[in-house]
Amino acid sequence: MTTKRSPLEIVILAAGKGTRMYSELPKVLHELGGRPLLAHVVAGARAIGGDVIHVIYGHGGEQVPARFAGETLKWVLQSEQLGTGHALMQAMPQVARDAMVLVLYGDVPLIQTGTLRQLLAAAGERTLAILTAEFDEPGGYGRIVRERGGKVARIVERKDASAEELAIKEINTGFLAAPARLLNGWLASLNNENAQGEYYLTDVIAMAVADGVEVATVQPAWEWEIMGVNSKRELAQLERIYQGNQADALMQQGVTLRDPARFDLRGELSAGRDVMIDINVILEGRVELGDGVEIGPNSLIRDARIDSGTVVQANCVIEGADIGRRCRIGPFARIRPETRIADAAHIGNFVEIKKSDIGEGSKVNHLSNVGDSEVGKTVNIGAGTITCNYDGVNKHRTIIGDHVFIGSGTQLVAPVTVGDDAFIGAGSTIARDAPSGELTLSRVKQRTIAGWRRPKKRGSTGK
Ligand code: UD1
Ligand code: CA
Repeated sequence: MTTKRSPLEIVILAAGKGTRMYSELPKVLHELGGRPLLAHVVAGARAIGGDVIHVIYGHGGEQVPARFAGETLKWVLQSEQLGTGHALMQAMPQVARDAMVLVLYGDVPLIQTGTLRQLLAAAGERTLAILTAEFDEPGGYGRIVRERGGKVARIVERKDASAEELAIKEINTGFLAAPARLLNGWLASLNNENAQGEYYLTDVIAMAVADGVEVATVQPAWEWEIMGVNSKRELAQLERIYQGNQADALMQQGVTLRDPARFDLRGELSAGRDVMIDINVILEGRVELGDGVEIGPNSLIRDARIDSGTVVQANCVIEGADIGRRCRIGPFARIRPETRIADAAHIGNFVEIKKSDIGEGSKVNHLSNVGDSEVGKTVNIGAGTITCNYDGVNKHRTIIGDHVFIGSGTQLVAPVTVGDDAFIGAGSTIARDAPSGELTLSRVKQRTIAGWRRPKKRGSTGK
């Protein structure tokens, strides 16, 4: 006989103000690893297979749902934040009666799916499960009060606790799982007669005990899983922990990080074998690094694909680019969106490339600006070459054929085409198409004024 599994409905409490963030931005929208705190919690809720995810929002108003537009979430407005019990109450009318309910927190982003699975496994039709932890300094957390026999009796909030209760080291993390049917009954009889005048979710524990419902406790594998964000300092601490975890996972896969403490991934990295990343590298969005790719120190790479064997030297900024195999980029190169660089190309120092295709084996080695261009194969672009792609109103394209040589200090005034095998003399301003296979140059004739003297300062004695 198979029994129908009761649906899992997850309620994320995210209405709080976050006063100590001292920010206009709602707390749960502050970013950790490049994503809002709440996005981490939502991802966790999806990972454990929540059938419905409810988010209680309030402070910051519609900014919070707006940030998650397009995602399947049930938004529940809690216009006044009257306590965690009151928050959960707002969602319950929309929760299926036969559901198992799991309560998560929008400002506690690092909770692990393994821990949540254990919490759910401990909960049952007649069992409420809470996640607790032992702290030497239990601080502001609610304390878990147990009977002599060890059974949980209730949770007491710090502000309501006696001196004896304050000494309890087992604390309430807030995470909880219980059947909707039981929660509905308990929440209906909550009151706010306590030190903070709030409807405490934690009061349901004593109610469960009174109803003869078992209270099971589960502990997280890591202390950081239950750490919340209440200040910028705590946000920074969690960021370091999160980055450390990501760095560990990458090293586990074989990525060499010269110093995992000086590496930041704010997005997703897919890395091949023998990838080496030097210190102070920041990766954002989706980054793909092929086998043997090396990233030099102090580079920022966002939404880019860099293929096998390519070396990015120090201090490069690469965004929205697709870079081929065995290229050499930098040091000090800036590669902007919609750029494709084919295999074995070299982009050197103080070069900016934007919205351009650079052909196989081509070189732009120093001090150039190449934008809105198509550059063929084995082209050599001399130092200080500028594509003048903007006439003040419109952008125009520059087309450079294969095997072209562009002399240093050339301006290519777009729209302009340089044919295959063309040779452009240094210092030229090329405003009309340059034919293939020919030398084209535009240069003012050099002259020397014989006997010329430097001007003297008026009134000077000519010393
Ligand atoms: C709560 C627990 C405490 C636990 C601690 C863990 C209660 C009464 N106490 O205390 O036992 O040790 O968490 O951090 O539950 N929220 C709403 N709406 C509200 C009130 C809160 O959405 O009306 C959200 C907040 O945004 C926050 C979370 O619920 O994310 C916890 O609220 P908070 O006021 O910080 O609870 P604590 O006093 O820390
Ligand atoms: Ca809190």
